[in-house]
Amino acid sequence: MRLKDKVVFITGAGGGMGREAAIRFAAEGAKIIANDIRGDAVEETVEVIKGKGGEAIAVPGDVAREADVKKAIEIGEGTFGKIDVLYNNAGIMPDEDASVLDMDEAIWDRVFAVNVKGVAFCCKYGIPALIRAGGGSVINVASFVALMGCTVPQDAYTASKGAVIALTRSLAVQFGRKGVRVNAISPGPILTPLLEKLFTDPEKRALRLNRIPLGRFGKPMDVVNVALFLASDESGWINGANIVVDGGITVYYF
Ligand SMILES: NC(=O)c1ccc[n+]([C@@H]2O[C@H](COP(=O)([O-])OP(=O)(O)OC[C@H]3O[C@@H](n4cnc5c(N)ncnc54)[C@H](O)[C@@H]3O)[C@@H](O)[C@H]2O)c1
Repeated sequence: MRLKDKVVFITGAGGGMGREAAIRFAAEGAKIIANDIRGDAVEETVEVIKGKGGEAIAVPGDVAREADVKKAIEIGEGTFGKIDVLYNNAGIMPDEDASVLDMDEAIWDRVFAVNVKGVAFCCKYGIPALIRAGGGSVINVASFVALMGCTVPQDAYTASKGAVIALTRSLAVQFGRKGVRVNAISPGPILTPLLEKLFTDPEKRALRLNRIPLGRFGKPMDVVNVALFLASDESGWINGANIVVDGGITVYYF
């Protein structure tokens, strides 16, 4: 078991990649502290884990609200006695996100509140818990869109994920000496509910598929397996990295 005796805090664990990660990590021996803004959904994740003989608790809350994050970390650490891994997975991509020219201030505020402040709050309360545990691993989920331009802009989302990568590097340097590694994963298009809503239009789907050298969209497990590696001691000397999991999109010129 690659995560035996580890306690993992995962945000956005009520669906998509967060739920798959929570279930997979639990199967590798981790105790899971599962957060999501959707209380019912995260309870469901916990029930799935328990049904398979694993250990997990639900700590519902909004990562954009500092008080929610503080409480979730306190409950999680109190229940299992420590936290070894902080997996900052929760993120949003609202339909209204478009070009800077067309967007209302409210969209910028909400996207940055969840995608950037959410990660910062989880680090504010989670990193001290990791230090109390003697060290640990932080995994921040960014996106390939932070690394290249796109003719179909989602400027708030793109800028927010760029901020996540920059914050990852800063934290990796600040907390390395305390035994805390901080890395980012930048997934390409992964077939989860977040993306499937974009693909109801077959033309949009084909346009994107054509840009993927491996010829298929990503699956949640493509990302979760990298996160599993970063959570485990196998990645003990990886710090400040941004691991791109995109089927080769970001190296594709023609
Ligand atoms: N799916 C993709 O193609 C893709 C690509 C690159 C990056 N990502 C990133 O991967 C991460 C997971 O994405 P996904 O595709 O699994 O998304 P998803 O929408 O399927 O799941 C995200 C989960 O986060 C929860 N959530 C949303 N706002 C929250 C909040 N304020 N507080 C707590 N929980 C909240 C949702 O309820 C949901 O369960 C996100 O950060 C996303 O930006 C996704």
